Amino acid sequence: MKISFADLSLPKKGAVVAGILSDGALTPAAASLDEKTGGLVGRALAAAPRFKGKREDLLSIVAPSGIDADRILLVGLGDAGKLDAIALQKVGGVVLANLFRMKDAEATILLDGVEAEDSAADVAFGALLRSYRFDKYRTTRKPEALPALAKLTVGSANKAAAKKAFARLEKIADGVFLTRDLVTEPANVLYPESFAERCLELASLGVEVEVLDEKKMKKLGMGALLGVGQGSVRDSRLVVMQWKGGKDKDQPVAFVGKGVTFDTGGISIKPAGGMEDMKWDMGGAGVVTGLMKALAGRKAKVNAVGVIGLAENMPSGSAQRPGDVVTSMSGQTIEVLNTDAEGRLVLADALWYAQDRFKPRFMVNLATLTGAIIVSLGTDYAGLFANDDELSDRLTAAGKAVEEHLWRMPLGDSYDRQIDSDIADVKNISGSRNGGAIVAGQFLQRFVNKTPWAHLDIAGVTWSKKDTPTVPKGGTAFGVRLLDRLVADHYEG
Ligand code: BES
Ligand code: MN
Ligand code: ZN
Repeated sequence: MKISFADLSLPKKGAVVAGILSDGALTPAAASLDEKTGGLVGRALAAAPRFKGKREDLLSIVAPSGIDADRILLVGLGDAGKLDAIALQKVGGVVLANLFRMKDAEATILLDGVEAEDSAADVAFGALLRSYRFDKYRTTRKPEALPALAKLTVGSANKAAAKKAFARLEKIADGVFLTRDLVTEPANVLYPESFAERCLELASLGVEVEVLDEKKMKKLGMGALLGVGQGSVRDSRLVVMQWKGGKDKDQPVAFVGKGVTFDTGGISIKPAGGMEDMKWDMGGAGVVTGLMKALAGRKAKVNAVGVIGLAENMPSGSAQRPGDVVTSMSGQTIEVLNTDAEGRLVLADALWYAQDRFKPRFMVNLATLTGAIIVSLGTDYAGLFANDDELSDRLTAAGKAVEEHLWRMPLGDSYDRQIDSDIADVKNISGSRNGGAIVAGQFLQRFVNKTPWAHLDIAGVTWSKKDTPTVPKGGTAFGVRLLDRLVADHYEG
């Protein structure tokens, strides 16, 4: 699908999309369509009295006479004054979904009469985000069953400005799409080595990518991460991505991701039902990789580091056992009482490595870490844990701005005491189900060495079972837009 911008004139073919405001008030484009069709828009509104211009509601008029277009799609915009960037993106998303479903080959969106700056770019961004599909493994679908939209034009009173604003948003979408691709890939295709190869492709955007193999990790003392992968025939990897868009002397910001390419639970094996979901247990690493692509793609003026720990958690004769003690890069010994609490083990070494090597301004890690965070927050909010109030507040605000919501959870000494081990420095589970997401956060905190740090537990938000306006069901890439926004608002220039 090619997206372009044009002025606000009526198209010669395809679908034309126009806005209706609260209480059925016509936008200028809708009024002009009404006039040219001899009052068809007004008659359609009268025939559909429940359609009152509520935001994201749709009303379709096929084969209109008096104009060249083949279909008019009216979209509710609600109150013009309340249309912010996110609302416009959602409008773009629901319109796109309808254009896909109706198999339009070409469409022009004319949303005038709204005051928001960059409104055309935001509508286009929302449409683009919703247009994501993962069809690479379909071989038998008939063309009629697939969307046909080849060309989407968005009208704007200032098309040069719209084009410019969209150029930046498109780079963010590139990052989102990479994350969704990675998260959706099955684990027989995406494993540590092949994931690392996907990261290497970012070199073409100017990202410096290093891949550490098991030998190098062993030398660094990453016994926690290596223990997780030791039962798998797939070797583990640690990938380091650097985008140097800031000044040479600028301390970098660091993002760290859990990349368990499949989590069977290991010897503490999971039940079979739903285990297929554990292909997306690399969601944190997927977000970090997509974020690096977005930052590099839009040439963000920041030095950013992405570190992802990649391992496959399998049971086998060589797998680690419950009760094993491993030594992490930090030097701390860990008693592995449950091999299914593996994400924290991977992150223990990835976090320690990131702060030790880069001395970052802050670290944010992302991980599909616990089922307990889903019990706590469901699927609308990700859990936020932090040792730094400013970082926490900035993340929360960025999440609000892009509607990827975070809810801060507590950390504290009494939780921390629950992971003191009888025979090692720390154990990887508390032995109680209570406060499971917090205990996991507490474990991570033992490996951040006082660096300002936040942990996002994204287990509930990484995969969606239903379509939302800008996120088709499946991998959401929750976190890419949020962290891009965090960087843009506070750490650039
Ligand atoms: N990858 C899982 C957490 C998870 C659960 C992610 C559901 C996405 C959806 C993690 O490795 C795990 O197994 N956690 C255990 C920890 C427990 C053994 C302390 C859990 O949450 O049950
Ligand atoms: Mn697990
Ligand atoms: Zn896991």
